[in-house]
Amino acid sequence: MSETAVLSIDRLNKHFGGIVAVKDLSFEVQAGEILGLMGPNGAGKTTLLNMIAGTYSPSSGRVNFCGRDITGLPAHKLCHLGIARTYQIPQPFTSLSARQNILVATKYGGKKAAGMEHDKIFDLVNLSEQKDMLARDLATVSLKRLELARALASNPTLLLLDEVAAGSTDAELPRILGIIEEIRKMGKTVVLVEHVMKVMVEAVDRIIVIDKGEKIAEGTPGEVMKDEKVIAAYFG
Ligand SMILES: Nc1ncnc2c1ncn2[C@@H]1O[C@H](COP(=O)(O)OP(=O)(O)O)[C@@H](O)[C@H]1O
Ligand SMILES: [Mg+2]
Repeated sequence: MSETAVLSIDRLNKHFGGIVAVKDLSFEVQAGEILGLMGPNGAGKTTLLNMIAGTYSPSSGRVNFCGRDITGLPAHKLCHLGIARTYQIPQPFTSLSARQNILVATKYGGKKAAGMEHDKIFDLVNLSEQKDMLARDLATVSLKRLELARALASNPTLLLLDEVAAGSTDAELPRILGIIEEIRKMGKTVVLVEHVMKVMVEAVDRIIVIDKGEKIAEGTPGEVMKDEKVIAAYFG
C-alpha cells in the first residue's frame, strides 16, 4: 500500500447466497483524489460502497483506511473515523427538517464534525431556502442535495457519493460539478459512482470500471471511454 493512500481495497469479495456481487476487487485511492466508479446496473458499485462504509461486511478481503484495517467495522465507527456516504435512494429522517437532519449527522460525526459550518454547507448544496422544511416535503432533487449536506456535515476525510447527479436535468449539472469542485478544494478524498458521463469526464481524476463485480478497466476518463471491454460491458 502506498503511503498516501486514503483507501486501499485488497481482494474484496461479497456474496449474497449464490450471487457474487463483488469479486476479487483491489484498488487504491490517494489523498485528495476523486475516483470515479462506473459499471452497468448490477455491476456491484453500491455493494462496494456499502462494504467501505460498513453497511455490509465483506465475504473476504480487506479494506484499509488511512493505513488502518477497517474491514467489517460498523458504519457508526467508520463515520467517527472519517468515512461518509450518500445513498442512491435518499434516506433522510423524514419527520425532521433539513436543518435537523444535518444536526444529527454532525452529532454522528463526533468531535471532528464541529468544524463544518451548517450555513456554509446549505449554501454549497443550494438548500439554504429549504433548510426549515421537513425532509418529507422536499422534492427528489433537493433530497439528493440533503444527502450530500448530511455526508459533509460529519466532516469526512473520505466521501462516498452514490449517483448524486442521477435524475438531475442538464441545467442542474453545472451546480453539481461546482459542488464537487468545492469538495475537492476542501481536500477531501472522493469515490464517485455516477452514470452521468459529463460528471465523470469533468469531475474525476481517474476511473475504475467494474462489470459483474470485477474490475475491467482503469485509467483516465479518456482512456476508459475507448476501452473495448468497457464498450462491450455497456453496449455488448
Ligand atoms: N442486499 C442484497 N441482497 C441480495 N442481493 C443483493 C443485495 N444488494 C445487492 N445485491 C445484488 O448484488 C448485485 C450488485 O448490486 P449493486 O451493488 O446494487 O449494483 P450497482 O450499484 O452497480 O447497480 C446485483 O445482482 C444485486 O441484485
Ligand atoms: Mg447502485
